[in-house]
Amino acid sequence: MRRVLEAIWGSLKLAAVGGAIALGSCTTARTILKQAPTDLPSDWQPLSRQSLPDPLARELLQAHVYGQMELSPDVEVVDYQITSTGAFDGRATLVQWHLRIGYGAAVRDLDLVALIPNEHPNAPMILSQNFCPNNDVVPLEGVRAPANIGFNCSGGGLAGALFGNIFGRYIVTPPLQDIIDRGYGFAATYPSQVIPDSGESGLAALGALFPNQPKRPGALAAWAGLFEVAADTIETKFGERPMIAYGHSRFAKTALLAGAWSDRIDAVLAHQSGTLGASALDDDTGEPLDDMVRAYPHWAGPGITPFADTPASLPVRPADLLALIGDKPVLLGNARRDVWSDPWGAFTEAKSAWGDAFGAESPADFRPSDTKAYWLRPGTHGVVKEDWPAFLDFLDANMAKD
Ligand code: GCU
Repeated sequence: MRRVLEAIWGSLKLAAVGGAIALGSCTTARTILKQAPTDLPSDWQPLSRQSLPDPLARELLQAHVYGQMELSPDVEVVDYQITSTGAFDGRATLVQWHLRIGYGAAVRDLDLVALIPNEHPNAPMILSQNFCPNNDVVPLEGVRAPANIGFNCSGGGLAGALFGNIFGRYIVTPPLQDIIDRGYGFAATYPSQVIPDSGESGLAALGALFPNQPKRPGALAAWAGLFEVAADTIETKFGERPMIAYGHSRFAKTALLAGAWSDRIDAVLAHQSGTLGASALDDDTGEPLDDMVRAYPHWAGPGITPFADTPASLPVRPADLLALIGDKPVLLGNARRDVWSDPWGAFTEAKSAWGDAFGAESPADFRPSDTKAYWLRPGTHGVVKEDWPAFLDFLDANMAKD
């Protein structure tokens, strides 16, 4: 028996050493093993150039990075239902819409679910875009799964638990009770209903919705427009209120785009937005642009192709996108071991874009009361228990509640 155990232990050690060697020899894994800095070197200088002026920055970002922004598709309400007026011990009303979105050439369906606080008539709404369908994000009785989508995050099942252990407690479902208790509404959409999040079917959907358009949106631009659709739909029914675009990772990229383009979005929580989000493209840190363009060919617009290998030659940079968000509150969330998302590159772009309005003296300097804030926690890519308290502290300091 002892021999068997020793043999198993020996193989495990061998596998661990082999794994470490394999990890160390692959770029992605080497990135995973690094940590982002917490200090700003005393000789660090922001970009020497000013952010590009507004119309030019928008033009260049659309032409060479994201494709045309699509903010106002036609929206038909196919179905609206009040699912419960007493969610969370009577504190919120749970409502759902089934929308049909038309971009001219074709239509797509989108489900929107919202929790509207009962005690705060004009509560700010946190609009989220998610990897998981609405019934996983808001796992309350009666919340519909989107039709014809063969994907779920399994709520509380094994897959959900596994997902949660890797990417954090709140990767699928945010702390809804805390959000409602702190006086915010929450809404969720699953943007893959409109543009599937896969290279082949994503490009096919984009081609069908925007035929013969050399400047057609990439999926990020099309998804970003859905924040405005959600804001409009909720305001039409429940009245005007502050709207916050929230997303993690790929949907942090879309939240930043929505903040920069849409007048209906008043604040942005962009957690770990990385490449094509807030992070620098020319600092040789984090996800290389050409990797992204290869792995996710549907995300950017067609104009990115000539720059995929040479991002330093792009005539526009992430700081220009951040500057377009103007004076709206923005929180950039980061984690030290998430170097794939390049936290350092997000900090330096924010410094360049926002100047004195971005008061953090170093990446470790979280100032939730500032309009432009940067949050860096230990750990890796995901949404963990420390993240939402930080997001809500930032919102409490920056959003007016009724
Ligand atoms: C991949 C991708 C990132 C993206 C992330 C996510 O890692 O390379 O750009 O942000 O997925 O959405 O979780």
